[in-house]
Amino acid sequence: MDVFRISGGNQLIGAVTASGSKNSSLPLFAASLLSEEESILENVPELSDIKFMAEIIRDLGAEVEKLNSHSWRVNPKAIVHYAPYELVRKMRASICLLGPLAARLGRAEIPMPGGCVIGNRPIDLHIRALEGLSAQVELKGGIVRIDASNLRGGSLFLGGRHGSSVTGTANAIMAASLASGITTIEGSACEPEIVDLCEMLLKMGAQITGIGSHLLSIEGVDRLHGCRHHVIPDRIETATYAIAAGITNGEILIKGCQSEHLGAFANVMQECGIELSNQAKSNLLIKVSPKGLNPFKVITLPYPGFPTDLQAQMTALACIAPGLSILTERVYPSRFMHVPELLRMGAEISLEGPSAVVQGGKRLTGAPVMASDLRASAALILAGLAAKDETWVQRIYHLDRGYDKFDKKLRALGAEVERLPENALPKSFTPFFE
Ligand code: EPZ
Repeated sequence: MDVFRISGGNQLIGAVTASGSKNSSLPLFAASLLSEEESILENVPELSDIKFMAEIIRDLGAEVEKLNSHSWRVNPKAIVHYAPYELVRKMRASICLLGPLAARLGRAEIPMPGGCVIGNRPIDLHIRALEGLSAQVELKGGIVRIDASNLRGGSLFLGGRHGSSVTGTANAIMAASLASGITTIEGSACEPEIVDLCEMLLKMGAQITGIGSHLLSIEGVDRLHGCRHHVIPDRIETATYAIAAGITNGEILIKGCQSEHLGAFANVMQECGIELSNQAKSNLLIKVSPKGLNPFKVITLPYPGFPTDLQAQMTALACIAPGLSILTERVYPSRFMHVPELLRMGAEISLEGPSAVVQGGKRLTGAPVMASDLRASAALILAGLAAKDETWVQRIYHLDRGYDKFDKKLRALGAEVERLPENALPKSFTPFFE
């Protein structure tokens, strides 16, 4: 298990290119199974989650080939309807195989995804969607078994306790694309990743209207064909680099991004005194306003609300923005595993129910910290970039799930960060428990 050693205090200055979106690529790999023909995905980021998904799809019987660092070929001519537990348990997103397998093969068996540190990960909305398309769903022995031999269009409502479900919507759209008749989806998620999925399905011959809204209408077709699709840039990675510019008082040009996907994040950047300016269609210049950082308030919500996947990174920024900031989690109320680690760096944060109340302004001090999940690892690295002295972030495998070459890109911006094997940890840091 690798660690990052960060020596904080450098301003990050320079240009970085956004990678393709992880949360778009994963459902797109699943969507390629809807056709018997070959599809090509381009601008796919190099991440461990992508490798997991490729391994699972290969295990289903598809030919999966990495053509170059960011392109993949999937030929799903002959696939089976069941995925192996030992692979699926590693990645929650494999749940978005349910819809394509059920629609293409008339049945599917996927192990129920395990829990994870950011909170409960139910699939009731996924099941509600498939049952709404006349599938029979049974949960037995931890396996979700679907009989979709008679998939028919229906009227679905996908609003849950915490709003819409992104992969729940993806499963509903993919299954409805091959169901006989018309399906309406009310309370659909409208994240840019859902729009990207719909764009790929249109290329495959699907009939979808209302794309980008909370109300979709899908007319099922008999079969879909393969296609070539270029994945959208990763808006969470883009925003993470924007926060890196803010937390180090630097100036970063983010190339190849899509600023229109930043939603409420762009407004919060303005509130906290970080300027975003479009330098060209897909380039964004980020720097702190001359007046410096301000405290801010954030409530995480489904898109176009503030993304829960940026809450941890913004909590790190709040630690150094002078004043009282409040970050409230409405999507995953217990997504605060990064807070105890930030406290080790001298942060002043108190957890009040679903909110983190941060008294910012003091300089953080470097410390050995433990990453607990993907976005928490990014938050701890951002904190280390701003802290004085050295910060050692352990269990970097969490970061590798969702950030492509993060250390390399940060070094190119002037950060003093290196990836080291775990045994490089100074002995006094060796954890007592593994
Ligand atoms: C997607 O997960 C993202 N992952 C997550 O990103 C992201 O945090 C999440 O959407 C919310 O934006 C991918 O796209 C691969 P949800 P997903 O179903 O689809 C509740 C990252 O860091 N819910 O939209 O699994 C659920 O408990 C990852 O990149 C139900 O109640 O999330 C949560 O509170 C982490 N019933 C809320 O909805 C369900 O059937 C949103 O979940 C499904 C979800």
